[in-house]
Amino acid sequence: MLFVTVQVLQTISTTLQNRYWNLSPRACIEPNGFNRTFWEGNVYSGVGCNCSFNNNTVCHVTHIEMQGLNLTGTLPPEFARLTHLQELDLSRNYLNGSIPAAFGQLRVTILSLLGNRLGGTIPEEIGNITTLEELVLDSNLLEGNLPANLGSVTNLRRLLLSANNFNGTIPVRYSNLRNLTTFRIDGSRISGRIPDFIGNWTSLTRLDMQGTSMEGPIPTTISLLRNLTELRISDLRGPSTNFPNLENMTGLQVLILRNCSIVGTIPPYLGAVSALRNLELTFNMLSGGIPDSFRPMTLNFMLLSHNSLTGEIPNWVLDSGRNVDLSYNNFTQSRQAGCQTSNINLAASHSASVGNSISWCLRPDLPCPRNANYHTLFINCGGGRITYEGNEYEENLSGEGPSHFESHDRWAYSSTGTYMGRQSGSIFTTTNHTSIVSSGAEIYSTARLSPSSLKFYGLCLRSGRSYRVRLHFAEIMYTNDSTFSSLGRRMFDVAIQGRVVLTDFDITREANGVGRGIFRDFDVLVNGTTLEIHLYWTGKGTTAIPDRGVYGPLISAIAITPNFDVSTGGLSVGAIVGIVISSFVVLVLLILLVLWLGGCIFRKDLEDKELRGALELQTGYFTLRQIKAATNNFDIANKIGEGGFGPVYKGVLSDGVVIAVKQLSAKSKQGNREFVNEIGMISALQHPNLVKLFGCCIEGNQLLLIYEYLENNSLARALFGKYIFYKIPKEEFVYLLDWAYVLQEQGNLLDLVDPILGSNYSKKEAMRMLNVALLCANPSPTLRPSMSAVVSMLDGKIPVQAPLVKRDGMTNEDIRFRAFETLSQDSQTRVSSSTFSQDTAREQRGVSMDGPWVDSSVSLSSKEETRDHGPESKLLPDLI
Ligand SMILES: *[C@@H]1O[C@H](CO)[C@@H](O)[C@H](O)[C@H]1NC(C)=O
Ligand SMILES: *[C@@H]1O[C@H](CO)[C@@H](O)[C@H](O)[C@H]1NC(C)=O
Ligand SMILES: *[C@@H]1O[C@H](CO)[C@@H](O)[C@H](O)[C@H]1NC(C)=O
Ligand SMILES: *[C@@H]1O[C@H](CO)[C@@H](O)[C@H](O)[C@H]1NC(C)=O
Ligand SMILES: *[C@@H]1O[C@H](CO)[C@@H](O)[C@H](O)[C@H]1NC(C)=O
Ligand SMILES: *[C@@H]1O[C@H](CO)[C@@H](O)[C@H](O)[C@H]1NC(C)=O
Ligand SMILES: *[C@@H]1O[C@H](CO)[C@@H](O)[C@H](O)[C@H]1NC(C)=O
Ligand SMILES: *[C@@H]1O[C@H](CO)[C@@H](O)[C@H](O)[C@H]1NC(C)=O
Repeated sequence: MLFVTVQVLQTISTTLQNRYWNLSPRACIEPNGFNRTFWEGNVYSGVGCNCSFNNNTVCHVTHIEMQGLNLTGTLPPEFARLTHLQELDLSRNYLNGSIPAAFGQLRVTILSLLGNRLGGTIPEEIGNITTLEELVLDSNLLEGNLPANLGSVTNLRRLLLSANNFNGTIPVRYSNLRNLTTFRIDGSRISGRIPDFIGNWTSLTRLDMQGTSMEGPIPTTISLLRNLTELRISDLRGPSTNFPNLENMTGLQVLILRNCSIVGTIPPYLGAVSALRNLELTFNMLSGGIPDSFRPMTLNFMLLSHNSLTGEIPNWVLDSGRNVDLSYNNFTQSRQAGCQTSNINLAASHSASVGNSISWCLRPDLPCPRNANYHTLFINCGGGRITYEGNEYEENLSGEGPSHFESHDRWAYSSTGTYMGRQSGSIFTTTNHTSIVSSGAEIYSTARLSPSSLKFYGLCLRSGRSYRVRLHFAEIMYTNDSTFSSLGRRMFDVAIQGRVVLTDFDITREANGVGRGIFRDFDVLVNGTTLEIHLYWTGKGTTAIPDRGVYGPLISAIAITPNFDVSTGGLSVGAIVGIVISSFVVLVLLILLVLWLGGCIFRKDLEDKELRGALELQTGYFTLRQIKAATNNFDIANKIGEGGFGPVYKGVLSDGVVIAVKQLSAKSKQGNREFVNEIGMISALQHPNLVKLFGCCIEGNQLLLIYEYLENNSLARALFGKYIFYKIPKEEFVYLLDWAYVLQEQGNLLDLVDPILGSNYSKKEAMRMLNVALLCANPSPTLRPSMSAVVSMLDGKIPVQAPLVKRDGMTNEDIRFRAFETLSQDSQTRVSSSTFSQDTAREQRGVSMDGPWVDSSVSLSSKEETRDHGPESKLLPDLI
């Protein structure tokens, strides 16, 4: 070995801050010279020499591989003086600085600098390395335009540029790279249309373009890439396009087209691609059905969530045992009633128009199957049940992931996606690889993650309310040191209720380091009963640091708290759990329960101002001026009825919304306070059979309640107390009342209690509930107890008066309904629309069939379901 070479190697070693070489002229032939060491995985130190020169007297260094050694220096330009160097691989170190222009003099075939901290641009001179076949620069901090010169390196087979900060477009000269087999440009700001000339890369077997700023459509020339085995494109901007023509790609194994604005149907020829194992077409606008050509299912992964697929879900899909995600589609029917069986995620997979016979979790928005009355939720994502800051966080430990849906009493989660490059052992939960340096180690030391999409749902929340969503994050998979493991950049987006709230969110950057817990708060309105938190990967950030397949959204914990005053009181609901009785009485009890629980609202004496403030929090608030304008100053012409507690007017708000205004006369402060109490309770009630309370108005001595206006004069059927309107066809009410009466007189009210309970409940308490229910169902509003009296009765503070349902009243409908028919000016109008009564009946069935009506312990979890794991969930090998 020539002296000069030793000197060059010494300089190189020093610049790299390399401690692994014992340099001497005999370094190539002495065992300790280059200290060839192979640790496990990606950690390797090796130098190869060719000593056959000058009649075996001179050695030249031909290969330098120093992977995963955490070298902390910079790239020495002196590498260029190693004239026989064929391979230079410095993957996964901690090198910084930029790529020296002198590298243009290298005559290597392989140059790999993956996973360092290299910045600056790729020098144009790289295009002078005509010998280059593999250029691997993933996961650095490179920026600027891609060098056009590289287009003349026609030997180039592998060009891997993912996870950098490049911008500009792919240079046209790259059309010359006909020998390319792998081109990867995930996670950069590369823009422009996907060039047509990719069609000239006919040797291509793998193309990755996830998370760029490029625009669709995918050019038709892609059909020329017959040898593709892996194609991944995501998050394309631009107009919607048809499915690209991939018909010639008979060797395709992985096809991922995520969020590419693809319309039309899934082409049947894909089913005939026998090598295909992993198909992900999520977040597009695909319509039509799942082609029959996919039968028998040879796919390991069929991820089609978030499209507009229609028709029946074929049984052979449901029976396949493969990982299938069909959530968020418009399917019309399936044999399956459940949401998750054998790795098949069917959450929200059915269109809104499908009848109510399908289970709640198949319906859009995952509507609450029972009374929606929750207002808090705490989840320790990826971790066990813990108490943190006084709140009990639910456990979320399931290791399932590629197509998983799991629901519990008050929440659910859904996870979709496969990890790129991870051959086995995909993980969906993690514990800290680095110590938690902030407070809150309890929640921050575990997390849930997903390669593509992760959704958490708060279920059965009180609707029409504002909630604070607190999302806790801590980066716990990277390290906090000067090693390559610290170089990971995780980026993802978060949307709550469909609105994007975090873009390219990087926990480490936001928290100023790893192992530090941070949270972000968002106030959201829950219109229905489900709050949806969606975390998803948009192709950005690193995917191979510290190991392949470490990326995707990660979350530590979720806390949802109400932005409105609630009080759940101190009463044991356990005592009444499980009293499942049918339709009307159930509904009455539902209401009573809420009232009972709400009994502690607004204990304090309130001044009028505070009173109004409280009301504004509780419900919509209207000014007297607004109401006067709406009702034409309570014009007698707008009066639609007179009830026991005051007249009811029809009105039209300035935005055109038609309302019914109930005018209660109240003079005293006492009355006002009662009013606020009642409104507080009532506004918590949400039920299809209750007329919706829009809000109220309290000014001077006016107490006004503003309800939705029902056509067909359903207000005539206002059955409930002073404040609640109950909408139900009269015929049905009569029937229910008769039935309740018969039970009361001749049978035993306790027959209404679910037999499953056996004798395992307090008869006294049940009787009290049932009697109060009957009392409230009195056809005459004036004979019904006030809400405050109801609360007291339920509390046991005052005795329950005997129900006032009278036999002789029962025989004459007219007498019985006289009280509330005076409300109506048009009592002739019957609610004859069959849809209305069907709705009512169906909702009631829903209530009684779908389970207990209180905060019960019945879990909708799929945990108990037998799960067939199907074939090995192995990803295909992924070479870097
Ligand atoms: C190789 O280098 C490592 C790290 O410097 C050192 O610990 C080890 O002793 C060296 N081995 C030899 C055989 O020189
Ligand atoms: C090469 O070396 C061998 C012995 O080491 C010698 O016999 C031979 O002559 C040498 N050849 C030349 C061309 O120097
Ligand atoms: C490389 O990083 C070190 C700290 O790790 C810093 O001191 C040095 O200035 C950096 N060099 C370049 C060229 O950026
Ligand atoms: C492609 O590579 C082969 C060697 O594998 C080489 O012979 C050929 O010239 C290259 N093609 C081009 C267009 O450079
Ligand atoms: C692609 O190759 C064709 C010839 O096969 C050539 O005519 C065309 O110019 C190439 N495209 C580009 C953009 O270079
Ligand atoms: C495509 O693959 C086949 C089989 O591996 C090979 O023979 C052929 O040369 C490849 N085509 C191109 C354009 O590289
Ligand atoms: C699919 O369902 C969604 C939500 O229910 C709806 O917005 C969309 O228009 C439907 N698409 C089709 C094609 O029916
Ligand atoms: C909630 O509903 C109201 C009216 O029904 C609508 O105007 C508003 O956009 C909805 N908000 C959300 C976040 O869906």
